[in-house]
Amino acid sequence: MKTQIEQIAPLRPVGEERPAAPQVAPAPPMKPLVVEITPEERQAITTISKTLKQRYRHYEDPEFIAMLHLNAYTLLPERIAKLLSRFGTDFSATQYGAVVLRGLLEVSQEALGPTPPSWQETDYGKLVDYGFISALLHGAVPSKPVEYYAQRKGGGLLHAIIPDERMVYTQTGSGSGTDLMVHTEDAFLHNAADFLSFLYLRNEERVPSMLYSIRSHGRPEGFMKELFRPIYKCPKDANYGEEEAIGEAPCTSILYGSEAAPFMRFDAAEQIYNERADQSPEAMEHLQRFWEAARGLIYQEFIPESGDMIFVNNHLCAHGRSAFMAGFREENGRLVKCERRLMLRMMSKTSLLSIRSVTHPDNPYLVMEEHYGKVFKAEFMIN
Ligand SMILES: [Fe+2]
Repeated sequence: MKTQIEQIAPLRPVGEERPAAPQVAPAPPMKPLVVEITPEERQAITTISKTLKQRYRHYEDPEFIAMLHLNAYTLLPERIAKLLSRFGTDFSATQYGAVVLRGLLEVSQEALGPTPPSWQETDYGKLVDYGFISALLHGAVPSKPVEYYAQRKGGGLLHAIIPDERMVYTQTGSGSGTDLMVHTEDAFLHNAADFLSFLYLRNEERVPSMLYSIRSHGRPEGFMKELFRPIYKCPKDANYGEEEAIGEAPCTSILYGSEAAPFMRFDAAEQIYNERADQSPEAMEHLQRFWEAARGLIYQEFIPESGDMIFVNNHLCAHGRSAFMAGFREENGRLVKCERRLMLRMMSKTSLLSIRSVTHPDNPYLVMEEHYGKVFKAEFMIN
């Protein structure tokens, strides 16, 4: 009796070639995956954060961090844990490199109170629940939350990103008056974060987020291949004073990893528009050509709402945002006062082993890299 398979696909005579399947390249992804969190999942996440807070008190408790992955896989709603676990290993041509978790959390605006004037004045006591949830999501990748001395001298595992009146026109998270051009986080470091999470507690100004994925170009061809050459400089970013940023300038490539589906390290503002970038004429020519193509691929249709999270693979997808007037939103053509934007960022690395040469001797979660392999000479460092 014939099997079902034989009936569907009769056997070919020995030696006969199987006809080649038509090679159709998958369409490049142009926008992030948007996942709607269900009310049940949202409720479960709220309960988890309360349970964890009771058990560990703080998301930086070494006991919590030691148990992070176990807690992530046993406590998170299965669909979310699976999604992030797959996201952590999907570097394919169809992976955009960012996922939006819409309605991840219920944020009580009343409990949050007014937005503080700047990140320095933030009461982190109010943000502990959000720190637990952010950490757990990184844990599901699995990836370990880390802090960077190059960003706020460490400043903890969770950073409040708030428009600061004193830094309106800077290319930093504290700016607001100019577009924050798309960039991969800390493009001036060899050991920049692998994954980033941006949790929006407040975006009353309705500022769209910008995302730009290297995958949107498709397979790198022609001039894009020049971006694999290590001839590009990247000064330290605008969080630093001018004097600190001057020094010898090592070069790296913009694209790296797989030639067919590469990773990217790129900061438009620092590498193209910053005079101190000091690129060679050849490097600048390639960068400008690349930027010409890249700027047309920026996705900025997503306006985050309170409780939304954007989770990013920092090797695939760059981020930024448009200029906005902090503390004002438009209503029927008029500007109305509102609370200023408030977002929480967490960064993580998938391997603490591979970054050990640039982490603090007593704290493997604190990255001390200053600029492309150079380590900060802080007095508490051993060497
Ligand atoms: Fe950034």
